Amino acid sequence: MIKVGIITISDKGSRGEREDLSVEEIKKVINHLPDAAITAYTIIPDEEKIIIETLIAYADKENLDLVITSGGTGLSPRDVTPEATKKVIDREVIGMAEAMRFDSLKITPFAMLSRSIVGTRGHCLIINLPGSPKGVRENLSTLLPVIPHALAKLKGDPSECGSF
Ligand code: MTE
Repeated sequence: MIKVGIITISDKGSRGEREDLSVEEIKKVINHLPDAAITAYTIIPDEEKIIIETLIAYADKENLDLVITSGGTGLSPRDVTPEATKKVIDREVIGMAEAMRFDSLKITPFAMLSRSIVGTRGHCLIINLPGSPKGVRENLSTLLPVIPHALAKLKGDPSECGSF
């Protein structure tokens, strides 16, 4: 089973001033991932320290295979999700972030404003998504087909690549 955690990063959401519509979009896309279950979810404010602590807890204590964040990737002064993510990952998966922006730029030029990154911490894959439901849907859909293979390789799958 692929254990998935979702972290919504939003000052307003964490204060109960905004309904979290993005998590529903993430759930819809994740439903298409074979054998995946969402086992953890939280809304936290745009505070670097809290984001770091939550990412570490999800990856190391909850032992999640996949952690998806939404929000805080843009240029607002409070947007610090990529900075926090960079501080907890061992390796950056640059191609996955590039692919999100590549596909999204065909839909909207505003895609270039998302500083989302993707990286690994131990056996956990961490993906930043923008905060809007539309941004979530479009970006995550790009990654979905390669996530099972990415997670298998992250866990040490020794099989030969190249048959896809
Ligand atoms: N990517 C896609 N595919 N679709 C979108 O609508 N919105 C953009 C961008 N990426 C968008 C997108 C906008 S308007 C912003 S400001 C940035 O994501 C950052 O969003 P965030 O600050 O909510 O993370």
